[in-house]
Amino acid sequence: MSKLLIAGRQRLAGEVCVQGAKNSALPIIAATLLTKGENVIFNCPRLSDVEASCAILRYLGGRAARTDGTLLISCDDVCRSEIPDSLMRKTRSSIVFLGAVLARTGRARLSFPGGCEIGPRPIDMHLSALRGLGAEIEEKYGVLECSAPYGLRGAKISLSFPSVGATEDVMIAATLASGTTTISNAAREPEICDLADYLNKCGAKIYGAGEGVIVIDGVTSLHSAAHTIIPDRIVAATFMSCAAVTGSEIVLKGAMVSHLGAVIPVFEESGCRVTLSDRDVRLTAPQRLHSVRMIRTMPYPGFPTDAQAPLMAATCTAEGTTVFIENIFENRYRHIAELARMGAIVRTEGKVAVVEGVPGLYGTSVEATDLRGAAALITAALCAEGDTLVSGVRYLERGYENFDLALASLGADIKKV
Ligand code: UD1
Repeated sequence: MSKLLIAGRQRLAGEVCVQGAKNSALPIIAATLLTKGENVIFNCPRLSDVEASCAILRYLGGRAARTDGTLLISCDDVCRSEIPDSLMRKTRSSIVFLGAVLARTGRARLSFPGGCEIGPRPIDMHLSALRGLGAEIEEKYGVLECSAPYGLRGAKISLSFPSVGATEDVMIAATLASGTTTISNAAREPEICDLADYLNKCGAKIYGAGEGVIVIDGVTSLHSAAHTIIPDRIVAATFMSCAAVTGSEIVLKGAMVSHLGAVIPVFEESGCRVTLSDRDVRLTAPQRLHSVRMIRTMPYPGFPTDAQAPLMAATCTAEGTTVFIENIFENRYRHIAELARMGAIVRTEGKVAVVEGVPGLYGTSVEATDLRGAAALITAALCAEGDTLVSGVRYLERGYENFDLALASLGADIKKV
């Protein structure tokens, strides 16, 4: 199992391209199940989570092949409606296959999804919403047996929380349902809009994505489409954290500035200068960051839970105290114990973490236990005195494409060992 060896205290400089968004690519791959013909998905990042979704698609009878950043997917020969446990466990996003398989085949048999250990990740909203569309779902020994004996029917679905995954699952399933579906309290994340854009290109009738109420007029079939995945706003925020913590100046090429509305002000408050031009973001960091008063993770357009860990790493060496409140996932502070090994001072109580900035961190061996936690440890290592050995790199590879190479191209001393 490879590890990353990082010699800290190198300034970063230069330009880096922002990869396509993992959280768009995964539901779009699931949604291709509903289509006839060959889909061309551009800007699809090379990630283990993407590979896991393609493996599910292939198991179901679809074809998925890659040339560079482009994924070609055809689902004409889909013949199965069950997904084995070993494939379900590889990624949390496997649950969006539930709505897709059900809509495509009228049945679905799968187990509970896997993914990073960041707290309980229930799927009750997915299940009750799909039941609302007419699915019959039985849960037995960790396996979900689902069928839609009378077909899926449009319905009024009201989510108790704007869950990203549940919104995607219902949106996909409702696309081929008979009649109209309304999702109230829908998630508004840019990745929801990207999924709706893709489905609409395929002939779906989805209105209001990006707003709290999404209306879907069911259609009888979907054709394939060519679609370009949006840039990954979390990867952009991670690069910004890396530059901020090292007092560097970098340019993010192809970032979607409008998706970073809650993130940019936080870097500005910490003393960074952020200049925006067209689709580029230039971040110029001060010698030492100031603390940020309070960072509360919230559903979009609030501060993203996925950017909490890398940003926390950046605030560990800021001047002053920064308070984090993690409102989305209750176990999303697992990186803190590892940051403490590097000299960070962070106290937690429940969903609150208080970071007391220290003048510097020092390198040691640390272990990542989830995707964004891995990004946080790398961020911290970049500014630490001496060498840091980061293990658990497989988590990083779920969501960051060649992150080590991108950082090295900016001047970081980082290598796989
Ligand atoms: C979440 C993030 C998303 C991020 C993704 C990957 C939010 C609102 N969502 O999406 O931006 O890209 O992680 O890390 O920030 N929940 C239930 N029952 C359900 C579904 C969810 O109780 O059926 C709860 C979850 O436990 C969690 C919250 O709702 O506390 C948000 O979950 P959800 O948005 O569905 O999570 P993801 O889709 O994984």
